[in-house]
Formats: sequence, C-alpha cells, structure tokens
Amino acid sequence: MKIEPIKGETIKASEKLVAKYLGDEVDPEIIESMVSGIAINVIHRDGDVIGVGTAQPMTRGYRRKFKKQLGVNLAPNTLWILDLVVDEAYRRRGIGWMLLEKIRRAYPDHALFAEVWLESEASSLGLFQHLGLKEIARVEGYWRDVYCPKCGAETCNCTAVIMYKIRG
Ligand SMILES: CC(C)(COP(=O)(O)OP(=O)(O)OC[C@H]1O[C@@H](n2cnc3c(N)ncnc32)[C@H](O)[C@@H]1OP(=O)(O)O)[C@@H](O)C(=O)NCCC(=O)NCCS
Ligand SMILES: [Zn+2]
Repeated sequence: MKIEPIKGETIKASEKLVAKYLGDEVDPEIIESMVSGIAINVIHRDGDVIGVGTAQPMTRGYRRKFKKQLGVNLAPNTLWILDLVVDEAYRRRGIGWMLLEKIRRAYPDHALFAEVWLESEASSLGLFQHLGLKEIARVEGYWRDVYCPKCGAETCNCTAVIMYKIRG
C-alpha cells in the first residue's frame, strides 16, 4: 500500500472512487496543477485505488460565501478538505487517518475546514474530531443542489456538520 499524488493512470480510478461515495467529481484543477492544493490517493498492492484525499486553500470568494451562508469568519489561510474517501472494503484500518495526516502536514500553518455528513454510518466526523476540528455550524439539506449518494435523492435532505480548526 502506498500514498502518493494522484497522477497519470490513477486519475480516472480516483475520480470513480470519489463519485461512488460522494457523488462528486474531483476538481481536475487540483489534480493537474498541484499548486493550488493537494490530491493524493492510496494504491493497493494490486494496483487498485482504495483511497482518495483532496484539499485546497480556500479563496477569498469562498470565505465570503461561507461568511454570508454560515455567519462564520474563516482565517485567510484556511485549507478546505474537499474529498476524503476510502473504499468500503478497506475501512476502519486507519487509511482515512493517514490521508488526513498527509494533507494536514502539507499545510501545517493552515486552519482546517470540512463539511461532513451527519446521518451516515461511515462519516468522517470522528476522524475530524480526533484531529481537533470542532462543529461551527449545522445545516439541513446542505447538498440540495447536487445528487447525493448518501440519501440517494436528487434533492438531498442530509444535514451537514461544518467543522473547523483554527490552525492545523
Ligand atoms: C470517512 C472515511 C474516509 C473514513 O475512512 P477509514 O479509512 O475507515 O478511516 P479510519 O480507519 O482512519 O478511521 C475510521 C474509524 O476507524 C477507527 N479505526 C482506525 N483504525 C482501526 C483499527 N485498526 N481497528 C479498528 N478501528 C480502527 C478509527 O478510530 C475511526 O473511528 P471513529 O470514527 O470512531 O473516529 C470512510 O468511512 C469513507 O470513505 N466514508 C464515505 C465517504 C465519506 O463520507 N467521506 C467523508 C466526506 S466529509
Ligand atoms: Zn443526501
């Protein structure tokens, strides 16, 4: 098992893994530029991609959006943890934690921000709490405008817990 930047032949498999569990697409810019963020995957011995983690420094525009939407002031150097996924068959072995640690260490002086599903058996809530993130807001129907793989609805009803830690 190895953790490395997403590149070349693992891009497609990483996108598939994220789409399966988060209904999302990995931002191609993060993968391709690497300048504006970090995109890593975990590759099993047999070559399969079994985990993905991506994060990006939050732009001022998004900080303003969250200020308006959530009423919170995020630090200028805030790292937005975007995707964190581990294939079901490999969960609860510390792989999610390893991905998070690697992301955090790449931006040691950054605050950490994440949006987490509340109603989910396999939520990252516990992991983020271990890392010291605290709940700063809770929003019902947070992912309303995108397809949600958790509740399976076009109009998502899931509640998001917004987690934040001032410094990584
Ligand atoms: C969230 C997710 C990435 C966690 O991945 P993971 O590899 O299972 O994470 P870890 O193994 O590091 O930790 C998960 C739990 O297993 C525990 N654990 C870790 N190693 C363990 C071991 N060897 N034996 C038993 N338990 C262990 C951890 O303490 C943690 O417990 P907690 O939830 O009570 O804190 C995974 O469940 C997932 O992909 N979920 C679906 C996608 C998703 O919702 N992502 C979050 C978007 S915000
Ligand atoms: Zn949902």
